[in-house]
Amino acid sequence: MPIAHWQDNYNTGNTRIDDQHQQLFDIVNSLHDAVEIGEDFQILQKILDHLASHTIAHFQTEESLMLTTNYPEYDRHKQIHDHLTAKVVNLIQKFRNCDATVTTDITQFLTEWLTHHIKGEDQKMIRFFQNQEYGQYEALPILSPTY
Ligand SMILES: [Fe+2]
Ligand SMILES: [Fe+2]
Repeated sequence: MPIAHWQDNYNTGNTRIDDQHQQLFDIVNSLHDAVEIGEDFQILQKILDHLASHTIAHFQTEESLMLTTNYPEYDRHKQIHDHLTAKVVNLIQKFRNCDATVTTDITQFLTEWLTHHIKGEDQKMIRFFQNQEYGQYEALPILSPTY
């Protein structure tokens, strides 16, 4: 049973970001299913590695967009990303060393983190990008209104 359910209001309007978010949901669901059916170490490790690489690539996409547009909250947003990346990397290391196992508490945490982050920080960031684009159009000569 999937744990992360995509909803329309998670869409930001940026297709690339939305696709990456949905892929993250898919990976969390794969991990959750694997935990629930008691998949072996190798399978869990493979999904965890996939989760880490996709998370890092996704954060890099957002961070480079924020830098290109001089997003004023870049530092804070990046810190939040770095915090989650550190948690995932730490989990993988512990899992590899057999110091930790993957549980549904972890997939629950990842689902809640993603949902909260997408609805808050990411939506705010995309709105800024959209306003920036709008700002460029504003620089065009203003035509007299026709009534
Ligand atoms: Fe995101
Ligand atoms: Fe983000």
